[in-house]
Amino acid sequence: MEKVYLGTNTKMYKGLADTVSYVEELCRLTADLPREKLELFVIPSFIALDAARKSADQKLLRLGGQNMGWAEEGPYTGEISPRMLLECGATIAELGHSERRHVLGETDEMVNRKVLCAVEHGLTALLCIGETAEEKEKGLADEVLQMQLKRGLYQLPPPTGEQLWVAYEPVWAIGEQGVPATKEYAEERHRTIRRTLVQLFGEERGAQIPLLYGGSVNPENAVGLIQMEHIDGLFIGRSAWDAPRFSQLIRSVLDVCFPKETML
Ligand code: PGA
Repeated sequence: MEKVYLGTNTKMYKGLADTVSYVEELCRLTADLPREKLELFVIPSFIALDAARKSADQKLLRLGGQNMGWAEEGPYTGEISPRMLLECGATIAELGHSERRHVLGETDEMVNRKVLCAVEHGLTALLCIGETAEEKEKGLADEVLQMQLKRGLYQLPPPTGEQLWVAYEPVWAIGEQGVPATKEYAEERHRTIRRTLVQLFGEERGAQIPLLYGGSVNPENAVGLIQMEHIDGLFIGRSAWDAPRFSQLIRSVLDVCFPKETML
C-alpha cells in the first residue's frame, strides 16, 4: 500500500462557521503527517466549500462536493454543476451516497450520468455503492454491488486512480442505527468490487482504483479494517466530525500502515 485515503462527508450537519473551524483545526493537527502517504479529504456542505478552500491548505486537505448535477450548466434548479464545484475549490464529487439513493431517490442511471460528467470535467468521482439489509439477508450483496458498478460506470473509459474512487458503504452499516461491517465481511465485498472493476476496465486500470470502506467506522474498528488487503481507505461520518478525534484515528491508521521507521 503506497498511501491511505481517509476522509469524511459532513452531511447536512456543519454550516459555514463550523466547517471553517473544523478544517482549520484538522489541518493544524495533521500538518506533520506525510501527504505522500495520506490522501486526506473533507466533503462539506456546498455553502461552506469556498470558505473551507480559503481556510484549508490545499496541500494538506482536498475538498469535495456531496453531490453534483450531471451537466455543465442548464435548467436544473437546486443543482450544482461540475464547474461550480471546481470554482469553489472542490476536486472530488461524491456521487450516489446511500442517503441520496435511498432517501432522495437517486437511481443508478442518474449516478452514471454524474460520474461521466464529473470525470469529463477533471473531478475525482467518488462513487458510493452498497447493499441494503434486505439484500444482504437474501444473499444478494455481491450481485447488488456488481450491478451498481456496471450501471454506475456504464460507458466510462478505463479511469485512472485519480479519476475514480469507489466507496463501499453498506446501507445497514451507516449512521446512528448502523452496525459496522466486520473487517472480514468488508474485505469479501471489496474483493468482489475489485474483481468487477478489473472485468470492466482491465487488469491495470481496474487495480489502480482506490477502494474505501464506509459505515460506522470508529477509532476501535478503523485499524482492523485498513489492514485488510483490499481496503485502501476509510470514508467516515460521525467519528470524523471532531477534529482531534479524527486526527487520532488518522494517526493510528498511519501507524499500522506505515510503521514508524518508514514514516521518517
Ligand atoms: P457514519 O457515516 O460513519 O456516520 O456511519 C458514513 C457515511 O455515511 O459515509
